[in-house]
Amino acid sequence: MSGEGAVRIELWGEHDLPLLEKIMGDPNMTAHFGGPERPGQIAARQARYARLAGSGKGRMFKIVAGGETVGSVGYWERTWRDESIYEIGWSVLVRFQGRGIAGIAAAQAIAVARSEGKHRFMHAFPAVDNPPSNAICRKLGFTLVQVCRFEYPPGSFMQCNDWRLDLLGA
Ligand SMILES: CC(C)(COP(=O)(O)OP(=O)(O)OC[C@H]1O[C@@H](n2cnc3c(N)ncnc32)[C@H](O)[C@@H]1OP(=O)(O)O)[C@@H](O)C(=O)NCCC(=O)NCCS
Repeated sequence: MSGEGAVRIELWGEHDLPLLEKIMGDPNMTAHFGGPERPGQIAARQARYARLAGSGKGRMFKIVAGGETVGSVGYWERTWRDESIYEIGWSVLVRFQGRGIAGIAAAQAIAVARSEGKHRFMHAFPAVDNPPSNAICRKLGFTLVQVCRFEYPPGSFMQCNDWRLDLLGA
């Protein structure tokens, strides 16, 4: 990648199912969230992503780098410890990983969330054994709050780090 100008984010659209299939249908891409989804689950996720921005409860973006669609980044509302927060998540297709793309795209998504001024805190919950994802949180200024145990998918438990970013902070 030849610098930040080469990576941009665009709102997720109705025609982005093929990208989602590459992300959520790939065992390597989904190792940290329960393995590949079935086609029906991916289609339902596609519909959720496409309507998220219109719902006012978050935004999902595709990541475009060097003219190719290479991944996803987005944030959505959830209640966490009795508080309304944004959760953020990111994915970059295997052959585009290791070039700084996820970090650049996540910074762009955070800037959009910050400009909305809707929620103060954004959290990320990467698995403790996902070094690149934890490195991105650290690099983008998130603070590590605690380690959590989530049941996901139902019946199996994973250890996640709870990282928090103050969107109103400097
Ligand atoms: C996590 C993921 C999005 C990272 O994408 P990426 O574009 O390769 O990430 P980046 O290149 O922007 O940054 C990765 C950072 O992790 C660091 N990193 C990579 N492997 C690492 C390792 N084994 N140990 C420590 N740091 C590591 C890199 O050095 C980089 O930090 P730097 O920019 O300070 O050098 C990608 O691996 C992915 O899609 N994984 C599958 C889906 C997933 O797990 N998503 C996260 C859910 S929370």
